[in-house]
Amino acid sequence: MRSNIEYPPGPSNLIPYTMGRKFIQDPIKTLLVLSHKYGDISHFKFGRQDVYFINNPNYIEDILVTNYKNFIKSRGLQISKRLLGNGLVTSEGEYHDRQRHLIQPKFYPKQIRSYSDVMIKCAFKMCDNWKDGTVVDIHKEMAHVTLAIISKSVLGYEVKQQGDEIGKSLLTCMEYFNRLLMPFGELIEKISILPMNKEFQRAKDTLDSTVYSMISEHRKNLDGGKKEGDDLLFTLLQAQDEESGIGKMSDIQLRDEVMTIFLAGHETTSNALTWTLYLLSLHPDIEAKLDHELHTVLGDSRIIPTIYDVPKLEYTERILTESMRLYPPAWALGRQAINEHKIDKYTIRPGSIILMSQYVMHRNPLYFTEPDLFYPDRWTPEFKKQLPRFCYFPFGGGIRGCIGEPFAWLEAILLISIICRQWKMALEPGHKVALKPLITLRPKHGMRMLLTRK
Ligand code: HEM
Repeated sequence: MRSNIEYPPGPSNLIPYTMGRKFIQDPIKTLLVLSHKYGDISHFKFGRQDVYFINNPNYIEDILVTNYKNFIKSRGLQISKRLLGNGLVTSEGEYHDRQRHLIQPKFYPKQIRSYSDVMIKCAFKMCDNWKDGTVVDIHKEMAHVTLAIISKSVLGYEVKQQGDEIGKSLLTCMEYFNRLLMPFGELIEKISILPMNKEFQRAKDTLDSTVYSMISEHRKNLDGGKKEGDDLLFTLLQAQDEESGIGKMSDIQLRDEVMTIFLAGHETTSNALTWTLYLLSLHPDIEAKLDHELHTVLGDSRIIPTIYDVPKLEYTERILTESMRLYPPAWALGRQAINEHKIDKYTIRPGSIILMSQYVMHRNPLYFTEPDLFYPDRWTPEFKKQLPRFCYFPFGGGIRGCIGEPFAWLEAILLISIICRQWKMALEPGHKVALKPLITLRPKHGMRMLLTRK
């Protein structure tokens, strides 16, 4: 192996593990500093691992689309296999392709439209439970409602009062994975008496028990000939009986797919909604424009929106687009090179990590004037047309792009319209807002908001 390889510019590697530690302590700041100092491509060592941070839309397209076959998911996602197993987010190769092919039809436009009733009902139920003049943690509320929606619509399961428990367990798992990501972090697992290992196991058990209840309930219905609806879980159970080129799906594989959709299908959208409501609370002028659109398109606050209203809610869509620009729920993606690869003039060796950050790319002043400003009106059709594809990629892209993207747009637009038609929100005085970048971008201290009925 060559040792005189030319690296892109980057911080000095003289003190081992410095960058690894900085990255774990404040990954977003670290990446922003790298992009400001070194531009489109930089290199650093994470422990002994070579990491290339790319911040150029063409390079990102090259990795996610043109040469995707030369990459697998990076260590961050491989670590999350401890919870997600080999589901759609974490699996690779031929197995991933078969599962994607199986699951994709449940996310075709016609099918997604059929989920809108559940989205609308759950949103109204949540709004009806809120009391004028009270303070709620909007992040928790969004997590509960999106959890109820994904469970009922795609997985055909009614979650009973377990929203909080599921939320806490998911947070425990994501924090645990962040610890394992540190250089030498995986040693933690070897010390079984450490409390964090037990906490992780308990959290995983909680999530597993929900997923196994979903599966057993469906299996009973299927065995009893009661084929209620045509949700994804029925499709997966039926597929278990079918032989394919790479064999039948085992019970564990079924569990992994259900866990993946259950978690990926609500955690990201709940963050997108939370950040959107936060931004609206800071910008009364934008909220007033939104009110005007909602009033014009939907009329009275008790009128239930329909799927046909959604394309007319253009300004609402711009608000969501801009909110996911500033606070992308998936704030970074990583890939690991299988074979040698070239980016610009640099040779990337097999095993190296390529890091891309939506958070950093979305705030690049070359493409977004006043990048830190919340300005939904920038999203005109002309602006979108001239923007290179991978300057804005909240849902990733290419073959591993988000399967739930159309679901998420529909759900978030419906929810914003229903919530903001009825309620005005203001941050509770003294509430601190800070970022907590785990696998997703969460508000560190939740989002406590005072509710006022409109
Ligand atoms: C605002 C909401 C959402 C955002 C920002 C988001 C973002 C993403 C991103 C960036 C990826 C690509 C990850 C990578 O390339 O490593 C992804 C993949 C995925 N997402 Fe989403 N997502 C959202 C909503 C959803 C929903 C609602 C579902 C399910 C109903 C879902 C299910 C998935 C799955 C299964 C994958 C893996 C796809 C594959 O590899 O074939 N996501 N998502």
